[in-house]
Amino acid sequence: MNIKSICCIGAGYVGGPTMAVIAQKNPDIKVTVVDLNAQRIADWNHTDLKKLPIYEPGLDEVVAEARGRNLFFSTEVDKAIDAAELIFISVNTPTKNYGAGKGMAADLKYVELCARQIAKVATSDKIVVEKSTLPVKTAEAIQNILDHTGNGVDFQILSNPEFLAEGTAMRDLAVPDRVLIGGDSSSSKGQQAIQALVDIYSSWVPKENILTTNVWSSELSKLTANAFLAQRVSSINALSELCEATGADVQEVAKAIGMDSRIGPKFLQASVGFGGSCFQKDILNLVYIAKSLGLDEVADYWHHVILMNNHQRDRFAKNIIKTLYSTVNGKTIAFLGWAFKKDTNDTRESAAIYVADLLMDEQATIKVFDPKVTATQMQADLNYLNTRPEDENATYLKTERDPYAALEGAHALAVLTEWDEFKTYDWQRIYNKMQKPAFVFDGRNVLDRAALETIGFIYKGIGS
Ligand code: NAD
Ligand code: UDX
Repeated sequence: MNIKSICCIGAGYVGGPTMAVIAQKNPDIKVTVVDLNAQRIADWNHTDLKKLPIYEPGLDEVVAEARGRNLFFSTEVDKAIDAAELIFISVNTPTKNYGAGKGMAADLKYVELCARQIAKVATSDKIVVEKSTLPVKTAEAIQNILDHTGNGVDFQILSNPEFLAEGTAMRDLAVPDRVLIGGDSSSSKGQQAIQALVDIYSSWVPKENILTTNVWSSELSKLTANAFLAQRVSSINALSELCEATGADVQEVAKAIGMDSRIGPKFLQASVGFGGSCFQKDILNLVYIAKSLGLDEVADYWHHVILMNNHQRDRFAKNIIKTLYSTVNGKTIAFLGWAFKKDTNDTRESAAIYVADLLMDEQATIKVFDPKVTATQMQADLNYLNTRPEDENATYLKTERDPYAALEGAHALAVLTEWDEFKTYDWQRIYNKMQKPAFVFDGRNVLDRAALETIGFIYKGIGS
């Protein structure tokens, strides 16, 4: 089957960049990305590429190449579904905040809405691809909805989870470690559907990096990959506390164990805690699935990855308070960084939000500088936590568009995101502007400790 027209429902952090690359690499296929959020679509269509709704290095160039040629962003969902032979579902699957499974299970309402809409609109056979991260066996539910509410056309369901990481999405998409496609290879239609998606990726991904499997294994592999990655971060973070208590240095420990080829050096960076829209959500989902199946030990095992992460964030905030003579009331703590990692404007589940919240409980003023996150977004993040009235959030959290202004008069500074530009700052100038003693709490271990101590800062990293 030769696919000529693709629709992707969901123009977010995954749908936008992924479809931009598929369109770039397959100029003969028309790719239409649709979303209910009209503002988001308008931003994707913005003539000024700096105004795209997502900041991701290299994204603007790919969009510039493909947009208007064979890549389109639109709010006309029904039209795009009807015209497409293959439809990606790339909508959000947040943690449920109501009803059964509240706080644990993935909320599948957006995915189900997509399935129902596809069923209603489709008048010809479609391949429906799960791009969103979904609990194992979701494809069964989608198939059910499509078969029972559709217009009698054939639907083949594939699972094609996305492994890109934000900040490196364009490289991850251009040279993926692997592309995973789950489908039903027991029927010829299933085989054709798998092959159609393999052909799309084959335009640029070597055949040996495209794995095909059954749908359930594919769905579960995505949750497992994120659980393993997050577990590494929690493991090194657990050791960071032990290092602080014993005088060992976590970076030395990470280097020593990372040189063991069985362990490997990646994802061993101790930090103030992992954030992002995926790790916590996907582990909670895994925990919920295990619990639902009566596998309590499995559920508890994975849940501890999250508990350790919460502890690391709390510990970081408490260490700031303790070091500042056990009171931060009326003091100013400057934050460098608010995004959950560098090279993205995404703040979902960022450790910065939780650390700020704890410090604000103690009535500290937080002054934040982040190169890509807006003041509105920071306030929205705190308001979403809903721990105090919005006007109090606005009183205690200030935003600066200049890092030196954020640090003016601060009693301490905390590094929450590892933006490269922080290393290039004039640290003597910053020292001169801050209250003395001037404390640096480096939640990412990115600054030059020796250089800062020479200037006069009291430096506290993670795990040393
Ligand atoms: P996102 O919130 O950035 O984007 C989702 C978009 O879907 C939103 O713009 C929303 O308006 C739209 N949408 C929701 N329901 C819709 C509907 N019925 N019709 C049309 N549009 C609709 O989310 P995201 O970060 O792109 O994540 C999408 C999925 O991919 C999630 O399941 C996530 O777990 C998974 N994932 C995310 C990442 C990541 O790094 N962000 C990586 C891998 C996988
Ligand atoms: C993650 C997965 O890496 C990706 O494969 C999946 O598709 C989506 O979820 P993402 O959340 O975008 O990607 O970023 P990632 O690089 O995994 O970082 C997640 C969090 O862990 C960040 O807050 C990061 O700062 C933190 N982290 C990562 C550490 O604290 N230490 C590390 O060594 C690595």
